[in-house]
Amino acid sequence: MAPAVIDSDLPLVAAPMAGGPSSLQLAEAVGRAGGFPFLAAANADPATMTAQIEQARTWGVSFGVNLFIVGEAPNEAEPVEQYRRALAPQAAKYGMDLHIPQLDDDDQWPQKVELLCQNPVPVVSFTFGLPPAQQISRLRRAGSAVWATVTTAAEAQAAQEAGVDALVVQGPAAGGHSGTWDPARVIDDRPTAEVVRDVDAVTKLPLIAAGGVDGPSAVRTLLQAGAAAVQVGTLLLRTEESGASQLHKDALASEHFAETVVTRAFTGRPARGLRNGFVDAYEPHAVTGYPAVHHMTRELRRRAAAAGDVDGAHFWAGTGYRSAAEGPVARTIRHLAAAVR
Ligand SMILES: Cc1cc2nc3c(=O)[nH]c(=O)nc-3n(C[C@H](O)[C@H](O)[C@H](O)COP(=O)(O)O)c2cc1C
Repeated sequence: MAPAVIDSDLPLVAAPMAGGPSSLQLAEAVGRAGGFPFLAAANADPATMTAQIEQARTWGVSFGVNLFIVGEAPNEAEPVEQYRRALAPQAAKYGMDLHIPQLDDDDQWPQKVELLCQNPVPVVSFTFGLPPAQQISRLRRAGSAVWATVTTAAEAQAAQEAGVDALVVQGPAAGGHSGTWDPARVIDDRPTAEVVRDVDAVTKLPLIAAGGVDGPSAVRTLLQAGAAAVQVGTLLLRTEESGASQLHKDALASEHFAETVVTRAFTGRPARGLRNGFVDAYEPHAVTGYPAVHHMTRELRRRAAAAGDVDGAHFWAGTGYRSAAEGPVARTIRHLAAAVR
């Protein structure tokens, strides 16, 4: 097994899960159970991020903060407009006149990075890309370890050259958005362990493997493939401390769904979730265009969720979703820890 990369008893990282699931309660419980907790600061304003960090400092455990790096490549208006027209039947169902509120935004990541330089945390991880190398070295000088999410060996090499400390190697089985730096890339179906081995062949950086974990044997497989730690998301979604909506928690256990798929239909970036009516109807029309599509469909998805319409909302899920259990998060962490005993 590779050397320890994280300052926690167990080589288990709770994936940052923006949009609600990564509640402070979840992060604190993961830390107390011996795992490494993350705050999901994507889609949160800088003040919220700062307030959450202040809370996390009181727990007496190490933790990380995750950001999306978006807005580097401007979106084209025409494909998003075409998709807007394709979504008309769904909009009509909810009495809405869909519009494109904004083509681009940077999720205020430059401001958040600045705050993290001034007020350093143990680990900062990035998804969808990296800030300039100069900012990475500022974060490191301030005392943070910087982790880059990568999905290919080429991204791993670029991240290593930019000076990061560790790589979160995300496989295609992962729930939620793919961390791919190229949102137009087709996300193939490969086991996470294979991606870990590809990346391990081109870098000596410590690796944190993510994607598709459904129990202790999957954790063991990833550690044997060369990972120093394993990052888990979907398996935590149904726990008591998870901030996922009840609709999402129930959907993960529902026989209404038979599988997960990678789709751009909800946000304009490839993301894995439960295959539902929305995916079947709109994936054929979907375009690459994050965050424009995310902003455009947000109210549509919110209304569907409020109406309990499981074929209109999105439910991020990795391939291991059938193993996501209810109960305290400490129980799930203990169950996974069997892999390292
Ligand atoms: C609901 C949900 C939200 C997610 N949000 C983020 C996020 O904000 N930042 C990030 O880097 N990854 C995010 N991910 C991906 C996770 O970091 C991780 O790669 C994934 O959960 C691992 O696969 P698994 O879900 O099969 O365990 C999210 C995943 C899920 C399921």
